[in-house]
Amino acid sequence: MNHFISFETLDLELIRDLVDDAISFKRKKAFPNLSNHYISNLFFENSTRTKLSFEMAEKKTGMEIIYFDAESSSIKKGETLYDTVKTLNSIGVECFVIRHTQDRFYEELIPRINVPIINAGDGCGDHPTQSLLDLVTIYEEFGTFKDLNIVIAGDIVHSRVAHSDAKILKRFGANISFATPEFWRDSSMTMGTYTTLDKVVSDVDVIMLLRNQNERHAQQYDENDFLSQYGLTTERAAKMKPSAIIMHPAPINRNVEIDETLIEAPQSRIFTQMSNGVFARIAVLNYVFNS
Ligand code: NCD
Repeated sequence: MNHFISFETLDLELIRDLVDDAISFKRKKAFPNLSNHYISNLFFENSTRTKLSFEMAEKKTGMEIIYFDAESSSIKKGETLYDTVKTLNSIGVECFVIRHTQDRFYEELIPRINVPIINAGDGCGDHPTQSLLDLVTIYEEFGTFKDLNIVIAGDIVHSRVAHSDAKILKRFGANISFATPEFWRDSSMTMGTYTTLDKVVSDVDVIMLLRNQNERHAQQYDENDFLSQYGLTTERAAKMKPSAIIMHPAPINRNVEIDETLIEAPQSRIFTQMSNGVFARIAVLNYVFNS
């Protein structure tokens, strides 16, 4: 039994195996059999892609899903996360996929809950299954991570995707830079250099855009100016290398982070990322039960 909380405690060989597993599940369309396992997806923040691609991965592996809706649950009566997980575990749930607003929500659960916990996003902390699907998408494209030039652009400080991806891509030997407005810099993110999209757009292999995390902002910024100042405009995209790709974890604020005509452009891998999310999550379910 394994938890899947963050890449930080996992060695690179194991993470490479997860990438290979996901690619193999995608190619062969053959999945591990996890039937007779009961799982709950506990989402305390909104989600479309992550929640439903976990559900797809669970169904493809034959799992039994015990549905949970935070809005109609006893959380509304003040029940804690721990008591909710303990309750569901008592009635037979054997694995929890959890997204929560609180950074490191899992710390109170891990020592006290003896079934796998999968982190589906903790506050501004980590989003390891998104990172895995991003690794799969980049590896499929380039066959390596080493020496790739990757710019992560946008709301660095609030984005758990930026935090997870920058750390793991750096460990794999990619060259990371951050293109972010001054007010969204993150002083703890020292694995890359701070730059602007204009300076790097013609040199990078991957432009990884982020969603502006409006629900986490204390202060307002001008959305109308954002695209031209910091986002991926068609003019900037025209300077990309032909082999370079555009990524975004979505949901997208159209014409804020990216000009909407680029979302489905030939160099965009945004929907490939979503498809890969299902296979990455099958790899994670297989890991927590079968390693
Ligand atoms: C991300 C998330 O929720 O952290 N979305 C996702 O999982 N695909 C990114 C985001 O919401 O900005």
